[in-house]
Amino acid sequence: MATGQLIEMPAEGREAFTGVLRFYDLAKRQEWQVKGLPWGELAPIPEGKGTPQRQARRKDMWRSVLTQQLQADMLACDMASQLLNIAPDHEAKLYYSTMVQDESRHTEAWLKLVGEAGGTAERDPHLDNLAHMTLEADTLQEKVFLMQVFYERLIISRFRLIARSSRGTVLEDLCNRLATDDGIHHGAGMAYERVLLQNADKKTQRKLVDAANRLLPEFAAHAMWRPKERAWIGRMMEARDAERLKEDLEIGVRLAESLGLDVSDVEMPF
Ligand SMILES: [Fe+2]
Ligand SMILES: [Fe+2]
Repeated sequence: MATGQLIEMPAEGREAFTGVLRFYDLAKRQEWQVKGLPWGELAPIPEGKGTPQRQARRKDMWRSVLTQQLQADMLACDMASQLLNIAPDHEAKLYYSTMVQDESRHTEAWLKLVGEAGGTAERDPHLDNLAHMTLEADTLQEKVFLMQVFYERLIISRFRLIARSSRGTVLEDLCNRLATDDGIHHGAGMAYERVLLQNADKKTQRKLVDAANRLLPEFAAHAMWRPKERAWIGRMMEARDAERLKEDLEIGVRLAESLGLDVSDVEMPF
């Protein structure tokens, strides 16, 4: 791939990258280790109460949640390493070298949790679609936009939600760390996207709005996706989930607007 390319680092005009470097420093300060999670001290996932059937059903539900997050972080490894390889700027490469480590550390933690919970469950097809959309997008601007500006921001509220329903477990601790890490991934993406869009013409801007219009319905399908292990909760929480998703998507549109894009053509999937 593009690893042999020259890294662009002219002596002047690097002020634009101050924001990206700030997130590089922050990422280094926030670095943590999988062995630092409370393994053996806390239960890995919430332990079910009640009849054996009820307990088994809850365990299947948690296995399905863990599977979806493991899948998301394995795909994030692919996307982060693609960004590391194709970003032409020295500061961005420095930052992405930390993001590759983060996504790989997240994957390791999910793998360990999935092992404790008895294995994986059904794969979320919408996550695969979201990753392909990003990996196959034509330009760096689109990739940063889809992954860091949108996905990593919208997923934070999911981590908070999982943490709230898994108090006192390793899973809660992991979700809190991931919410922080993805906050940094998102912030770095916003800072870099601002640099990338500095001299963007109308056509580039239009391509980003089109990319958002492809992403949003797929993200909605991902957020509302319920495999059979979670169908029973799905029915209970559908209205609330839809409401929460709508708020998340509105945040996405506001972010696009703050990057100077004309969002009047963004189509909300609701
Ligand atoms: Fe991650
Ligand atoms: Fe991330």
